[in-house]
Amino acid sequence: MPTEKVSYKETTHTQHRYDWIAPFYNLMEWPVEKLLFQDWRSDLWQQVEGPKVLEIGVGTGKNIPYYPDDIDLSGIDLSPKMLERAKSLLEKHDKSQVQLKEMDAQDMDYPDNHFDDVVATFVFCSVPDPVLGLQEALRVTRPGGRLRLLEHMRAEWSPLALVMDRLDAPFHYLSGVHIARKTVDNVEKAGWQLQKVQDLTNGGIVKKIEAIKPR
Ligand SMILES: C[S@@+](CC[C@H](N)C(=O)[O-])C[C@H]1O[C@@H](n2cnc3c(N)ncnc32)[C@H](O)[C@@H]1O
Repeated sequence: MPTEKVSYKETTHTQHRYDWIAPFYNLMEWPVEKLLFQDWRSDLWQQVEGPKVLEIGVGTGKNIPYYPDDIDLSGIDLSPKMLERAKSLLEKHDKSQVQLKEMDAQDMDYPDNHFDDVVATFVFCSVPDPVLGLQEALRVTRPGGRLRLLEHMRAEWSPLALVMDRLDAPFHYLSGVHIARKTVDNVEKAGWQLQKVQDLTNGGIVKKIEAIKPR
């Protein structure tokens, strides 16, 4: 993937925001993690078969406890500070088959057709160019391999969607997160074939998405 497609300005902004948020991230997310996310993570990881798996945007490593033991996992993140926290959490778990690296999802170092599954949770709201990131994910996945996402996105109910559109730019400036992305459309635009889209909340704000790389 040609690196000139990546916006340096946008990507640096996102990296700086997550570096700044890293010390508070787990605390900020604690209530939703306990109420909702942990069950969704557990359910998603039970379906991952591998053996070669890529996790994009590992963040502070919240998925680490759910990694199956029989997979070979490569995890990447743009933010060195988020990754530092993931690495220290990894030390507390017996997961010798896991490698974590700083890398941009929009321009990955992995060869074509390398992974069996690609997983990301709450990441494509932040990747500066989500279609470029999803195209890179497609490139590094083998034909027939799967993409599994948990993502929040633009609501389906138009009054709320319009509010989200209005708030998207200031929210992104402050946090690095876009709240009004059309992630299901982006997955298809990148060339993935949708298999299943499951609405996990009312109004389609959080979805579990499963897609396959066409053979
Ligand atoms: C909202 S956090 C989610 C972290 C984790 N997946 C979770 O479920 O808690 C989004 C993460 O995506 C990472 N990220 C954003 N853009 C990225 C990119 N272009 N390449 C790799 N990671 C990226 C951020 O640094 C951040 O750690």
